[in-house]
Amino acid sequence: MRFQDFHRQSIEQPDIFWAEQAKLIDWERPFDKVCDYSKPPFANWFVGGRTNLCHNAVDRHLKARADQNALIFVSTEVDREQVYTFAQLHAEVQRMAASLQALGVKQGDRVLVYMPMIPEAAFAMLACTRIGALHSVVFGGFASVSLASRIDDAQPTVIVSADAGSRGGKVVPYKGLLDEAIRLSSHKPAKVLMVNRGLADMPMTPGRDVDYSALREQHLNTTVPCVWVDSTHPSYTLYTSGTTGKPKGVQRDTGGYAVALAASIKHIFLGKPGETYFSTSDIGWVVGHSYIIYGPLIAGMATIMYEGLPIRPDAAVWWSLVEKYKVTSMFSAPTAVRVLKKQDPAALKKHDLSSLRALFLAGEPLDEPTAKWIADALGRPIIDNYWQTETGWPILTICNGIEQAPSKFGSPGKAVYGYDVKLLDESTGEELKGANQKGVVAIEGPLPPGCMQTVWRDDERFVKTYWKSIPGKLVYSTFDWGIRDDDGYFFILGRTDDVINVAGHRLGTREIEESISSHPNVAEVAVVGVADQLKGQVAMAFAVLKDTSKAATPEAALKLEGEIMKVVDEQLGAVARPARVRFVTVLPKTRSGKLLRRAIQAVCEARDPGDLTTIEDPTALQQIKDLVAGR
Ligand code: PRX
Repeated sequence: MRFQDFHRQSIEQPDIFWAEQAKLIDWERPFDKVCDYSKPPFANWFVGGRTNLCHNAVDRHLKARADQNALIFVSTEVDREQVYTFAQLHAEVQRMAASLQALGVKQGDRVLVYMPMIPEAAFAMLACTRIGALHSVVFGGFASVSLASRIDDAQPTVIVSADAGSRGGKVVPYKGLLDEAIRLSSHKPAKVLMVNRGLADMPMTPGRDVDYSALREQHLNTTVPCVWVDSTHPSYTLYTSGTTGKPKGVQRDTGGYAVALAASIKHIFLGKPGETYFSTSDIGWVVGHSYIIYGPLIAGMATIMYEGLPIRPDAAVWWSLVEKYKVTSMFSAPTAVRVLKKQDPAALKKHDLSSLRALFLAGEPLDEPTAKWIADALGRPIIDNYWQTETGWPILTICNGIEQAPSKFGSPGKAVYGYDVKLLDESTGEELKGANQKGVVAIEGPLPPGCMQTVWRDDERFVKTYWKSIPGKLVYSTFDWGIRDDDGYFFILGRTDDVINVAGHRLGTREIEESISSHPNVAEVAVVGVADQLKGQVAMAFAVLKDTSKAATPEAALKLEGEIMKVVDEQLGAVARPARVRFVTVLPKTRSGKLLRRAIQAVCEARDPGDLTTIEDPTALQQIKDLVAGR
């Protein structure tokens, strides 16, 4: 089939199109209506249908592939490799589900998962969807203040965590951060379920903290059936950053998500049942949810869960896994490739990569040199794909499962089936139909199955943030700039808001600013994202001090900079730590007091800051220019 026709049908006859895709999963009860869009922008998919994510990911495969690999856990941090078949995964998920139930978790409750990349994290996620509870996974790299705000928003009955993670051979203790987060939060979870890896101290709070290994022992043979839920029943929430400091809980449904993932594995990621999928992401991010856990498993594939760095013990470690487990689809981020690029390319040639159909990359712009280097080194197709936490699966890519099409360097590809993607003028909302015109990448409602249902407990914020940012129209904004060429290929040109992308990690500059402002000597601060060769972007902070004498000498300034970075480390986590914190006496603002972030960013990147007629104090930008130039 021609991709163009496939896409056209998905937009013009969505009911027929998605009813066909819905056959890819199991339904306990068939749906009556494919899409109810009677209250835009809220879309309800497969209304009347009942299903279960965990059933589709695990139980339904028991008949045909009980003894085939399901979860392949590899840790180069603790030197452990453990393979769970579908039957073993089924058993472990039930043990975890029974344990959660024993701690009082019921359908509709939230379970916050704050864990390193260990099998129990996967068991916990699947156990939640098994019993109709919502998981809310918080990335293990986040620290107590980030975690506390997510605890308060999700209001979990139970938190599942572990003593520690490990990165580059260094133990990263979790329990202290978790205890501090619970101390800071107004909502207190009834129970905390702890997995002890024996890596770090794990002080237990009596009456609240429960050791998982002991509880698991009591439920070795407990059967926990899947709870059939409505297709529209929320399966999970996942927090992501936006323009304001408060993270948004992206809420996902059940049936639409399962169908979207199953279809994407077939049409985009070229995976088949019985094969192996390897995504190098983390379960704390959306790629981990969709393409470490649910997507591959729903498709009956084995999935590799990898704890460790791409270059430890050496740069061949990922490729040795591709060879060993005959990985057919691999998913990573450009940042990881840029890390590998600094190593000897011979590492890639050591292994037989012939099983690999393609390497898929997403999360940040894929620059041409990186794309070319990895394509040459691997000798396999490289496929860029563009999407967001909000959508849960690709918006733009090349759907080689439908029709082979060439990639273009710098472009993630064309609009994926189900997505009616438009470029709109930011101020008038008018559609830019001509080629190579820059506009906001927007999606006409309804969003296809699998995309966010709403912002957790905040429908109004969902509508206001995502659907009303472009004047005159109810249309979903991605908050990315883009252009489209004559052939329908899109090019993404960066965010329209204050979100930055550091090594594929999405961060809000406002959150970082709030954290830095909590330092007693900081009066005001501006954080911007600045282009970086390795990480794509890094955060750069410019602060105005209350007491400038504390930074009077270069040594004192450096000491204070270190102190401020420590504040960010402790509150948000090292992922959010700015590359530099520089001190200025005034920040560039407009006469009405708005920070000129774009001008700061331009100066940091040695670009023209543009129109500065509204600037209140031109010397403010000069100070930043001087700092950047090292004057
Ligand atoms: O700015 C876009 C960028 O990452 C943002 C979404 O990040 P996140 O919610 O973490 O989801 C990542 C899912 C892969 C987008 O708004 N982005 C993502 N993929 C690409 C990209 N920018 C350019 N090219 C991409 N392939």
